[in-house]
Amino acid sequence: METTLVLIKPGGVQRNLIGEITRRIEARNLKVVGLKLVNAKRETVEEHYGEHRGKGFFEDVVNYLCSGPVVAMAVQGVNATKAIRTMMGATNPLEATPGTVRGDLALTIDDNLTHSSSDPEAAERELKLWFPEGTVA
Ligand code: CMP
Repeated sequence: METTLVLIKPGGVQRNLIGEITRRIEARNLKVVGLKLVNAKRETVEEHYGEHRGKGFFEDVVNYLCSGPVVAMAVQGVNATKAIRTMMGATNPLEATPGTVRGDLALTIDDNLTHSSSDPEAAERELKLWFPEGTVA
């Protein structure tokens, strides 16, 4: 059993896709064990994207995540990290398979609707950052 992090980015919230994305996660029989809508602090987002610091898109992606409310969700299930990554589709929506969240609902890499942890170690680090109070399971 694993717990992993999903963020619905400001574009997804603005497009009223909270329900659609959460529906797909729950339909997969993954359990939501943490859920909140937050205006993320810049320092949280910079730490979250720490591995991208120095890359050309770092400032833009940090600004974007701070530009409006974000849904932070802790999701639990067998191989939850891999299951979620596959469901979300390739980072660049142009390469995402139809049937995935990005393949069905997104068009550009700058507005790819969700972030999900890349592996269980990243999930543990990111969950501590977004849910310092812990989750319900
Ligand atoms: P995410 O999974 O949140 O992780 C980093 C984000 O940076 C990524 O999704 C994209 O939204 C954004 N991004 C913008 N340009 C790139 C790029 N060239 N490579 C990877 N991510 C990018």
